[in-house]
Amino acid sequence: MTAAPRTRYSSFLGYPRLPSVPYGALRHIPGTGRGLIVGDALAFVADPLKFVRDRHAAFGPISRTYFPFEAGVVLLSADGNEFVLRDRAQNFSAHLGWEPLLGRLFRRGLMLRDGDDHRLQRRLMQPAFRKEALAGYLERMTPRIVRETARWGQRPGFRFYPAIKRLTLDIAADVFLGLELQSEVDQVNRDFATVVEASLALVRVPVLGRKYARGLEARSRLERFLAARIPERRNGNGSDLFSQMCRTVSESGERYSDEEIVDHLIFLMMAAHDTTTSALTTIAYALARQPQWQERLRETVQELDRLEVQPDDLSRLEPVEWVLHEALRLYPPLPAIARRTVRDCEIHGFSIPANVAVSVYPIFTHHDPQWWTEPERFDPERFSPARGEDRRHGFAWVPFGGGAHMCLGMHFAEMQVKAVLVPLLRQWRLGIPADYRVPYQLAPIAKPRDGLPMSLQAV
Ligand code: HEM
Repeated sequence: MTAAPRTRYSSFLGYPRLPSVPYGALRHIPGTGRGLIVGDALAFVADPLKFVRDRHAAFGPISRTYFPFEAGVVLLSADGNEFVLRDRAQNFSAHLGWEPLLGRLFRRGLMLRDGDDHRLQRRLMQPAFRKEALAGYLERMTPRIVRETARWGQRPGFRFYPAIKRLTLDIAADVFLGLELQSEVDQVNRDFATVVEASLALVRVPVLGRKYARGLEARSRLERFLAARIPERRNGNGSDLFSQMCRTVSESGERYSDEEIVDHLIFLMMAAHDTTTSALTTIAYALARQPQWQERLRETVQELDRLEVQPDDLSRLEPVEWVLHEALRLYPPLPAIARRTVRDCEIHGFSIPANVAVSVYPIFTHHDPQWWTEPERFDPERFSPARGEDRRHGFAWVPFGGGAHMCLGMHFAEMQVKAVLVPLLRQWRLGIPADYRVPYQLAPIAKPRDGLPMSLQAV
C-alpha cells in the first residue's frame, strides 16, 4: 500500500520542517505577538480553559497566536470546529497538524495520515471495531476488570488514577496485542509509557533531550517486539486486535504491510489508553462529589444483577452514558485538536493562507454558555433525550472529534467505561473529603496531579 509522506526534522530542537508563512502573513487577524520562543503554548498548557476564555474575550472566535516557532490560528466556536473537523473543502491536513507533537514517536498512526491513504488505512481497520469484534474484546476484558476492582478497596492509600491507568494498560496489552506472558506485558507497558512520556518533551533532538531519546529507543524496542510476532499472528486465529489486523484483507485484496501494522498498533495503544483513563478518572471524581448521581448510577447498574457486563447490557445503561458524556464535556481528554491548512480558506470573515497551523478547542465549546445551561455544573441529564443540549449544535460537543478523523475507538471507549463502572459501583461506594478539590492538569491530556486519593467502602 502507499506510504505516508516522510518528514524532515530541524537539527535545532528537533521539530519538523514544514512549509510555513512569514509571521506578517497573519497580521490581518487579531491576536498575540511572538513573545517567548514557545509562544502561547506555555499559557495553554498551564491552564487551557483560562487560555481559551481570555483569548475569546480579547479577540473573539478567531485569533492569531504564536505556536512554537511560527504564527498560527486559534478557532473558538462550534462553527469553527465544524469548518475544520468536517473539512468539506479539504483545506486541512491532520498529518501536518499533529506532526510537530506526535510525529516521530507515533509516526504514521491513523490520525497522522491524510486523504486517500487515510481512507484506505481506516477502511482496513474498521472491521476490528465492528460490533462483533467489540463483543469479543468485552468478553476478554471483563474477568480482569472484576478481579482488579475487587482488590482496589483493600488497598490502603488507594489512588484512583494510577489504579485505573494500570488496569486500562493491562487490558490494552491483552485485547489489542494478545499478550499473555506477564513479563512481556510489563516490558511492553514500560516501553509504551516511556514513548508517551517522551511525546511531552520540549526538546526533541536525541542528544540534548534525554527524555526524547529514551522515547525513541523505547519505540524501536516496541517495533522489534511487535514485528517479530507478525508471522505467527498472520497464521493464527487470535481474536485480539493485532491478530485481526494481521489477517485483514480488503475486498480488493489489500492488506497491511508489517510496517503499517506496527505503526498502527503503537498509535492505537496511545489513542486508547490515556484518553479512557482520563475519562474514567473524571467520572470517579464527579461521582464521589455528587453522591446523588453515584446512587442513581448504582441503582442502574444493580438492575443488571451481575458484575460482568455483556454485549446486550450495553444499551441498557443510558444514565451511565449521560455521565460519561458530561465528564467528557467538562474535561475533554483532548482539549485541543491540531490541523494545518493545505490551501487558502476563510472563516469568521478572515482569510487564512495555506501552510498555517490551525487549532480548534473542544474545551472552549464544551464550556460555552451559548450551548450549555450553567456550563460549569455537573449535570449529566443535559444529555438525556428530554433535554438534549448536545443537539443545539452538532459540533459544540466534540470530545471524539468529527469528520473523517472522528475517533474510531469511540464505541470501544464507551464499552470499556461501562465494563468498569458496573463492577466498581456494585462493589464500592466512592468517597472523597467534602472539601477536597482535585488538582487537575488539563493539558496535554486531562489528569489529576495528585493521582486522586479516594476511599472505597463496601456497598
Ligand atoms: C474517551 C476516550 C477517547 C477520546 C476522548 C478520544 C478522542 C479522540 C479524538 C478527539 C480523535 C480525533 C483527533 C483528530 O481529529 O485529529 C480521536 C481519534 C482516534 N482515536 Fe480516539 N479517543 C478515545 C478513545 C479511543 C480508543 C479507546 C481508541 C482505540 C481503541 C481510539 C482510537 C482512535 C483512532 C484510531 C483515532 C484516529 C482516527 C482517524 O484519524 O481516522 N480512541 N480520538
